[in-house]
Amino acid sequence: MKISLKDETYKQELHTLLKFSSLISSSLKIEHVLNIAMEWAEEFIGAEASTIYELDVDADELFVRIARGEKKEPVKSLKLKKGEGIAGRVAQTGKSMVVNDVLNEPRFSDKFDKVTGFNTKSMICVPLMVRDRCVGAIQVLNKKGPDPFSLADLELLTSMAHQIAITMENANLYSRLEEKFQITENELKATQEKFIRTERLAAVGNLVNGISHEIRNPIMTIGGFAYRIKEALDKESRLCRYADIILSETDRLDRLVRQIHEFVNIQSSDMELSSLGPVAQKVLEIYQPLAERSRVEIRAAIDPDMPQIKMDSSQIFTALSNVVENAFESISNEGCLELDIRHTDGFIHLVLRDTGSGIDNKQLDSIYDPFFSLKPRGVGLGLTVAHQIIMNHHGEIEIHSEKDKGTTVDILLPVEN
Ligand SMILES: Nc1ncnc2c1ncn2[C@@H]1O[C@H](COP(=O)(O)OP(=O)(O)OP(=O)(O)O)[C@@H](O)[C@H]1O
Ligand SMILES: [Mg+2]
Repeated sequence: MKISLKDETYKQELHTLLKFSSLISSSLKIEHVLNIAMEWAEEFIGAEASTIYELDVDADELFVRIARGEKKEPVKSLKLKKGEGIAGRVAQTGKSMVVNDVLNEPRFSDKFDKVTGFNTKSMICVPLMVRDRCVGAIQVLNKKGPDPFSLADLELLTSMAHQIAITMENANLYSRLEEKFQITENELKATQEKFIRTERLAAVGNLVNGISHEIRNPIMTIGGFAYRIKEALDKESRLCRYADIILSETDRLDRLVRQIHEFVNIQSSDMELSSLGPVAQKVLEIYQPLAERSRVEIRAAIDPDMPQIKMDSSQIFTALSNVVENAFESISNEGCLELDIRHTDGFIHLVLRDTGSGIDNKQLDSIYDPFFSLKPRGVGLGLTVAHQIIMNHHGEIEIHSEKDKGTTVDILLPVEN
């Protein structure tokens, strides 16, 4: 910048510029900084208004990032095509323009003045360049007083343009980084949650495997002796009724332990290429009579042209039955159950929605836990099993719910696994 330090005004300008540079690099509130920068530009150049345009590269348009001056509000929604008007021309050529009388400048467009009622008489417009790329333009309008815009005004604005371009570029990079970081952080959280859940299930699995054998043996013994005692007793006696209770309870225990044992031993052993559609249809058919009795409308949209996937059909049948069963159980009387299955982006995407009781937010974290049940006679294994089966198929299951509104189960199964 060619500034004579002997000149008092320029000394003041240089001071301003330095102050401006440090403000720009220290502050993150970009809009505020840009506003102050243009306020200074107006003040030192002696202009009535100013604008910062940013280039939208995809649309090849300039939009207003900062507008200052009397008619700034309507300006903010206006846009200029690259090449249109003075700013459009400056952004297109990358060359500054000083126009001291817009009436004598054929490239001047009065588009903005028509909308705002502002009367542009003169202007300096400077491109915002980052390396060789134009990212926008800044302009000051209407020089106050009798003098026209000078070369010194142009130089001052050019220096500011340089700082502003870098600031805007950094702010854009920063916000992109922030966006990216946000996604990564969310992904990390989801993966961590999944990991904890899977780990927790694996730990429970090992434990159950170890003790189920130890439990079933005594259960069988108790049941066997209870049977023998019963046989030796008078059928009408009170003791015989007690023996019956022991028998039915040992039977219940045996079933439970077997169910748990089966759950922890779910292996993806019988994987073959098959279609999900017929499996889902079969599940719905089984629930059809119950749907009619409890007046639940089933709406199914199953894409007939889905690719086959490698799956264990009986396991997938179990997983779907469990989620459909939960949906039915959540609707006390009358409601709707929607099943939507389609092929998207390398996945079979299954969505099951019900208009049932929903799940309280506080409980959502626990629904996959073994033996978590809010039902009087629920075992609390349905979703644990469904989750495990989907994991075995390298898929994903997510449940969203709103209390008293309903629940949505999303299942993704990869086509190539
Ligand atoms: N669609 C749903 N609507 C409302 N609550 C649900 C739904 N699906 C699951 N839940 C809640 O999650 C809990 C756990 O479900 P899960 O299927 O694992 O066990 P359960 O249904 O209680 O017992 P079971 O082992 O017999 O299936 C349920 O008790 C219920 O509170
Ligand atoms: Mg269940």
